[in-house]
Amino acid sequence: MSDSSALFKPFTLGKLELANRTVMAPMTRNLSPGNVPHEGVVEYYRQRAAGGTGLIFTEGTCVNHIAANGYPDVPYFWGEERLEGWKKVADAVHAEGGKIAPQLWHVGGMRRAGTLPEGEVNGYAPSGMNVPGKVNRHVMTQQDIDDVVRAFAEGARDAKACGFDAIEIHGAHGYLLDQFFWEGTNQRTDGYGGSLDNRGRFVCEIVTACRDAVGADFPIVLRWSQWKQQDYNARLVQTPEELEQFLMPLSEAGVDIFHCSQRRFWEPEFEGSNLNLAGWTKKITGKPTITVGSVGLNADFIPAPGEATFKEAETASLDELIARLEAQNLTWWRSAVRCWPMQIGPIRCALVTVPHWCRFERKCWRLWAERCALAQRRQTLRGWCCLSPSEVLRCGAVIPDSIPAVRGRWRVAHSAAEGVLRNAAQRPVSPERVPPDSRQDN
Ligand SMILES: Cc1cc2nc3c(=O)[nH]c(=O)nc-3n(C[C@H](O)[C@H](O)[C@H](O)COP(=O)(O)O)c2cc1C
Repeated sequence: MSDSSALFKPFTLGKLELANRTVMAPMTRNLSPGNVPHEGVVEYYRQRAAGGTGLIFTEGTCVNHIAANGYPDVPYFWGEERLEGWKKVADAVHAEGGKIAPQLWHVGGMRRAGTLPEGEVNGYAPSGMNVPGKVNRHVMTQQDIDDVVRAFAEGARDAKACGFDAIEIHGAHGYLLDQFFWEGTNQRTDGYGGSLDNRGRFVCEIVTACRDAVGADFPIVLRWSQWKQQDYNARLVQTPEELEQFLMPLSEAGVDIFHCSQRRFWEPEFEGSNLNLAGWTKKITGKPTITVGSVGLNADFIPAPGEATFKEAETASLDELIARLEAQNLTWWRSAVRCWPMQIGPIRCALVTVPHWCRFERKCWRLWAERCALAQRRQTLRGWCCLSPSEVLRCGAVIPDSIPAVRGRWRVAHSAAEGVLRNAAQRPVSPERVPPDSRQDN
């Protein structure tokens, strides 16, 4: 195994100082009734910070626009009570020595009319399409565009006021911002459609407005992806030259960090080079990047037809990741950390199931990986993985005081088994349990 010390180097960007290179992925949880981040949400993020996560991205949280939301019980990022909740989240994370950024979100055409609490409001999309060729959403006017730009800027302003350390703008996975990027859903004939430059204009305006709202020294992260929920094979750019054309205006508009979402981090982006999306993005922009996608697993989290399924996914070593981190000079790696039945991996579900993972990972992740793989093979484990205190100690790791013993043994997963995980553990995967960020809607 490679020397993993690269993962634990501190990182500094202006005033943002991170203890290590572990970044927690934004993961929608649908656990905010009334769209308010209640105490359970505060505790959830506090635990991840207590575990030593370098930087936490919150689940997608909706900006203040009538059509920003498309799912039940996701938190909003506006309104007194909601912002008070978010302030508590930021305070709790800081009290544990962590850093946190909200992921500001507009689902665009992914919204279906009827979604509460806004009810009959239709999805908003650049050309009224959620999937290419099917016009059944509201076609955004210039006024709508201006309203959404303003909503993101207000979100950025409020994030800073709440004490967050940065913001992440969700420009990936086929949601509104990505629908502007993507030719398949952007057929506009005005200044927001056509060329790559034009398709990037809306997001550049959002970034500029956010920058104006937060000032020069507040980090702005942009998450982007080639793939879309609507089409895993979609690509915004085909060549490094196009990538440069796409990225540079965004970089110049004020993006500080690019969060490059891939489904499999080990896949090279273009022929003739081993660089992945984050590697290319860093090479072109010179900005820090975050890589993601099946870290710690050998298969995808939502497999394409014919690919390995959750059940078949095996745990994988971190060596490839560490090698890339060093070779590509990637600034961060990150584990998209979540747990779904039968897709247990040492990294993937580590931060969801084990908020303290970062602390004892160095010593016992291999044992954890073996345990999870065994459980997967036997199909005995559905979202739970346990190491006993003696096993943890045998690995030479220090057990954090804050992990309580459950029924005489060390059930490391217990504290995060709320909500999705608990439900998932109790019943088989069904289509409606597919995570919102990965649900195809046509
Ligand atoms: C349950 C779940 C919820 C997610 N929610 C979000 C989200 O709110 N915002 C986002 O950008 N990505 C979201 N994602 C995508 C993850 O951040 C990540 O990119 C994806 O899981 C791939 O990484 P992995 O293979 O390491 O899990 C979600 C994924 C899952 C499984």
